[in-house]
Amino acid sequence: MFIVWLTFIVCLALVLYTIFLMVGDIAGAPFVPLVQKDLNVIFKHLKVKKSDVFVDLGSGDGRVVRIATQTLGIPSIGVEINPFLVVYSRILSRLKKDSQAHFILQNFQNFPLTSATMVFMYLYPEAVIKLGTKIQKECLKGTQIISVAFAIPEWEKNLYKAFSTPSGKMVYWYKLPSQSHDFSHKGG
Ligand SMILES: C[S@@+](CC[C@H](N)C(=O)[O-])C[C@H]1O[C@@H](n2cnc3c(N)ncnc32)[C@H](O)[C@@H]1O
Repeated sequence: MFIVWLTFIVCLALVLYTIFLMVGDIAGAPFVPLVQKDLNVIFKHLKVKKSDVFVDLGSGDGRVVRIATQTLGIPSIGVEINPFLVVYSRILSRLKKDSQAHFILQNFQNFPLTSATMVFMYLYPEAVIKLGTKIQKECLKGTQIISVAFAIPEWEKNLYKAFSTPSGKMVYWYKLPSQSHDFSHKGG
């Protein structure tokens, strides 16, 4: 009887995990984590102040948040729609005694960005466009935005740096201007 229940629970967990993977894919991007060698290069470029707060929109298994706390030493928040990935991320940061890493189960479209000073995303272009508008509305001037793989359309004027990772992904690093009219577009 125990085996039957165990098999049922494992199958149910697999089905739910697959459903949440599909939800993530539809809501912003599938769970495809960045590889360590790419992350090392990205985080070598970033410059921080002690007061910075790092946010990864769509944090997957939490690896970007963990490397942010480890290499930048600043509080970091991962926002993720998949509860399995949030639980995994929380367990790992607890085991590593990483008290600076926080994970929130939420659709990033509903997450307030007012306290973020560094926003990281590795998502589909459609999600990047929507988040560009949200960032413009909610973030403070000077906020840094790092988008892997896809540029934020019409933000060319605010591009601080663009570089390629060892695996060939482009990284677009923006700084939010002090005046919203510094943006060359109106809608985001
Ligand atoms: C390409 S992965 C990036 C994972 C991680 N940032 C990295 O670079 O390793 C995209 C992640 O975004 C999550 N996601 C997609 N849409 C989302 C949404 N609307 N709100 C929160 N998370 C979302 C997916 O579940 C997935 O884990």
